[in-house]
Amino acid sequence: MNDAVPGFEPVSKEDVAHLGTDPVPAGPYYEPAYFELEKAAIFRRTWMQVGHVCEIPEPGSFMVREFECADASILVTRVSDTEVRAFHNVCTHRGTILVEESAGTRSRFSCPYHKWTFANSGELLSAPDFDKFYVDKADCGLAEVAVDICAGLVFINLDPSPEQGLREFLGPIAQKLEGTPMARATAFSEYVYEVQANWKLTYDNFQENYHLRFLHPRSGEMANGPDNPFGYPERYEFFDPHRTQTIWSNPQAQPKPFQLMAFMKVAEFAMRDELDMVTRDYYGVFPNLFVLGTATTHFSQWIMPIAADRTRSVVRLYWIGEDDCASRRFAREFSLATALDIHSEDRAVIEAGHRGLASGALRHIHFQSQEALCRHLFNEVDRRVQAYKAQQQSGGDVA
Ligand code: FES
Ligand SMILES: [Fe+2]
Repeated sequence: MNDAVPGFEPVSKEDVAHLGTDPVPAGPYYEPAYFELEKAAIFRRTWMQVGHVCEIPEPGSFMVREFECADASILVTRVSDTEVRAFHNVCTHRGTILVEESAGTRSRFSCPYHKWTFANSGELLSAPDFDKFYVDKADCGLAEVAVDICAGLVFINLDPSPEQGLREFLGPIAQKLEGTPMARATAFSEYVYEVQANWKLTYDNFQENYHLRFLHPRSGEMANGPDNPFGYPERYEFFDPHRTQTIWSNPQAQPKPFQLMAFMKVAEFAMRDELDMVTRDYYGVFPNLFVLGTATTHFSQWIMPIAADRTRSVVRLYWIGEDDCASRRFAREFSLATALDIHSEDRAVIEAGHRGLASGALRHIHFQSQEALCRHLFNEVDRRVQAYKAQQQSGGDVA
């Protein structure tokens, strides 16, 4: 053992006790009725990531995303270099889904049913035999959705009049995200997989390291060691609904030669131009996104709830510049494969956790102090759900 390695003190129980110490009810992690409340209380009225600006690089670019958690299909368009708009992907004639492709370049969209045609800025441009209708074209534009951009990430809010702008909602997290290489990314590698489990169980798996040494004895070796056998983080911080942690890395870990070669190649660009962005910070952005902005993994995971028991995970590694040579291509593929490896080790327990809870065997689950981020997510979700229920019961305006 290297005497120069500093000892490690995990965040104390007292430091995170303000989040609560009681067991947490199990129902919210599997009950369909609770998921319906989450849809109304959170997903239909909160800023959520819809993509990255590099997906809509030029005027005419568009992307379509399904938000099952809000029963919505969303069309995001780049109208000009400076203008991005978002709409419900729904024809205003009789409601047909307007665009079936997931992305492309087109400045107008024709509905397949009766050929109403819309500009990418939402106006109805033409409609066959429109004289026969009883409405003005000017009143038939696509239903607009609030959209804004932070750190290259495109966010939408399905609330027609959001309570907060995106910057206000993100608070200090906005500036932190802007400090990650993701903010300047021009490309990304992606893999998408579906998990037969609730979205909070899926998210929580990536919010604690308690399981690291048991599920990832091989792939997690860089993040735990004798000083910190569970690989607990160095620090937690909470910013309203958002949360951060600083990941601990084992100073004694020796990357294998091929790992070193791949990571050095990935880091080459970062080390040259983005050194100020090197960090071990993880940012949990409410409700369903987390970002890790290290030099070798400009990583995000976007956790899309599909149903109470089904979740789509979208994992992205962001890059600055093209993979213009074989060694950089190798390095990026290696990084993606490494992330996929770790995720494949997690998937079975996430699904087993859902099956166990959905059996109804437990009324409560337990979070220890080093599962503070999981507790914080539950607190933030449940606070909104309970407020929504109270509004409903009092007959308030609950949209
Ligand atoms: S439903 Fe779209 S043109 Fe009729
Ligand atoms: Fe894991």
